[in-house]
Amino acid sequence: MSTQSPFPSKLPEVGTTIFTVMSKMALDFNAINLSQGFPDFEISAELQNLVTDYMGKGHNQYAPMAGVPDLLNSISRKLKQTHNIEVDEKNEITITAGATEALYATIAAIVKPGDEVLVIEPAYDAYVPAVRLNGGKPVLIPMDIPDFTINWDRVAHHITGRTKLIIINTPHNPTGTILEEDDLSALAGIVAKHGIYVLSDEVYEHIIFDGEVHQSVLKHPGLRERSIAVYSFGKTFHATGWKIGYSVAPPSITREIRKVHQFLTFSVNTPIQYALATFLEDKKNYEGQDRFFQQKRDYFLEQMQTSRFVPVTSKGTYFQLFSYKNYGNRPDREMAEWLTQEIGVASIPISVFYQDKTDNHYLRFCFGKNDQTLKKGAEILCRI
Ligand SMILES: Cc1ncc(COP(=O)(O)O)c(C=O)c1O
Repeated sequence: MSTQSPFPSKLPEVGTTIFTVMSKMALDFNAINLSQGFPDFEISAELQNLVTDYMGKGHNQYAPMAGVPDLLNSISRKLKQTHNIEVDEKNEITITAGATEALYATIAAIVKPGDEVLVIEPAYDAYVPAVRLNGGKPVLIPMDIPDFTINWDRVAHHITGRTKLIIINTPHNPTGTILEEDDLSALAGIVAKHGIYVLSDEVYEHIIFDGEVHQSVLKHPGLRERSIAVYSFGKTFHATGWKIGYSVAPPSITREIRKVHQFLTFSVNTPIQYALATFLEDKKNYEGQDRFFQQKRDYFLEQMQTSRFVPVTSKGTYFQLFSYKNYGNRPDREMAEWLTQEIGVASIPISVFYQDKTDNHYLRFCFGKNDQTLKKGAEILCRI
């Protein structure tokens, strides 16, 4: 037996993520996996072929640190085309190993020990540990239920002389809510008054429903100069395993993000960057995503109609929240485990997206799956 004392953790509160736990449980109990956010259908054959073509052409060595120029150029054209945003591709875009690296590099570049960072909860799990690792203090602000909206007066109330950054996410994981123009205007008012920075996680920009328009911080004149927006090709092209994304920020902030990126990964895999540069040239390749996923959301909700789960209709992302208040009030983690082990459908309990594990009895189901998988899952859930 070892006599050594345990190695002192810098993140003692962090264990195995719930996504890993639930996916493993789904596998162990042969349950339909609607927990983790990854599609169970194939990526575009054209995109796959482009990657092998570029490998065959010898694009297999280190890419430039900030990204392959062709890809930076394709992204800047895409931003112009989709959101009418002008960016200086040489000085404002950085290709990263997934949105996760872009988030981490941004937080590391901005947050100094003692700085406070506003995080709206429920929150994607990558934000708070990155703030803590860089000596920052997360200041947690809950959304209002049952609609999961942000009360901007409450946000303003939490600002102190040490507040450096606010992290927002639209469309939002796990709730499927989106920020409207009014939300960004309220945020811009706060930014103008207090001079804080905004880190905007926009990885689901192309998964937005019912004719709503994605509100990017990059489009907002009051936010553009103090904001960093983060995107993910893994989400946009159903290729979460590729781990490739990018950040867009003003040159002075990008310079600092690149300093961190340089020593986190240096550069991101070359043939995929070339393939994406070519694939992005045809806007059809990303513009149909909202319709595709809206059909899935509608299909899943329709299949769930006879269940007693109560939906908070998703406005974006491939996540659908349900309240299970009609099934009693056992803790959501217990409910998710019971559903996986005894009923045969895996989901994610929403309490894990709160640092203090606030439990409002909601579960998140991922509908970015084949219709057959959704039908089978819903059939089982409707029988309870
Ligand atoms: C809100 C949000 N941000 C970031 C990410 C991470 O994206 P990537 O896989 O590109 O690192 C995810 C993945 O689930 C997410 O849901």
